[in-house]
Amino acid sequence: MIAANLLEARALARRDPRTAATLLAETDFVLAASERVVITGPSGSGKSVLLRALALLDPLDGGQLLWHGRSVERRAIPRFRRSVAYVRQRPALVEGTVEDNLRYPYSLRAYRDLRFDRDGAARLARAAGRGEHFLDKRASDLSGGEAQVTALIRVLQLAPEVLLLDEPTASLDPDTVRAIEALVDDWFIADRSGRASIWVSHDPAQAARVGQRHLQMRAGRLTAPEGDAA
Ligand SMILES: Nc1ncnc2c1ncn2[C@@H]1O[C@H](COP(=O)(O)OP(=O)(O)OP(=O)(O)O)[C@@H](O)[C@H]1O
Ligand SMILES: [Mg+2]
Repeated sequence: MIAANLLEARALARRDPRTAATLLAETDFVLAASERVVITGPSGSGKSVLLRALALLDPLDGGQLLWHGRSVERRAIPRFRRSVAYVRQRPALVEGTVEDNLRYPYSLRAYRDLRFDRDGAARLARAAGRGEHFLDKRASDLSGGEAQVTALIRVLQLAPEVLLLDEPTASLDPDTVRAIEALVDDWFIADRSGRASIWVSHDPAQAARVGQRHLQMRAGRLTAPEGDAA
């Protein structure tokens, strides 16, 4: 059974480990099944800090994160990461080709039951507007936008339940931006049982397209935008 709340943050907090300055003030937040949340806010306000905290990528300095209503034990973290996928703002790629990068997760223990589907990956690349030989390109030769596309495909092919998208289209041209938005739409449509996303964007027009619920981050605090009842 799928709990209605996929993620629930209770008083989640992060501090700068060196100066103890607040990076994320105590934050309550719920991501319900099928929800599309969009977060905007100035540079340095804590959007990435929040997403990384929700992905359990950094140690928390307070609060609790519930996944399907339960806290995540250490041994459940690989399973959690498989369900709740964070797409980094600055993609980290391994050496080799794009295909090597797309194959990489399948070499990890958490994905041992899955097999790389080259045709499926090529289809995603085409849908993202990449040409025939994209999978054969060297990762070190990729443009910033192409690296973002690669990182997103690497996650999408694994069919996570929650996508935490940290400015996934920041270095892309408008056509590719639309193609990426369509890819994420396809991911939603492929399983209507409850997939949900949080999309961080600086572009208000994109925020309107990709989010139903809009939140703002300001100086480490997550709020509903002014004039918004939500
Ligand atoms: N591990 C860390 N240690 C210390 N400070 C950090 C750490 N991670 C982030 N910060 C600081 O927290 C603040 C918020 O950073 P964050 O990356 O979340 O901003 P952002 O809202 O995502 O900005 P942008 O829109 O530029 O991506 C910044 O001042 C940053 O320097
Ligand atoms: Mg950021």
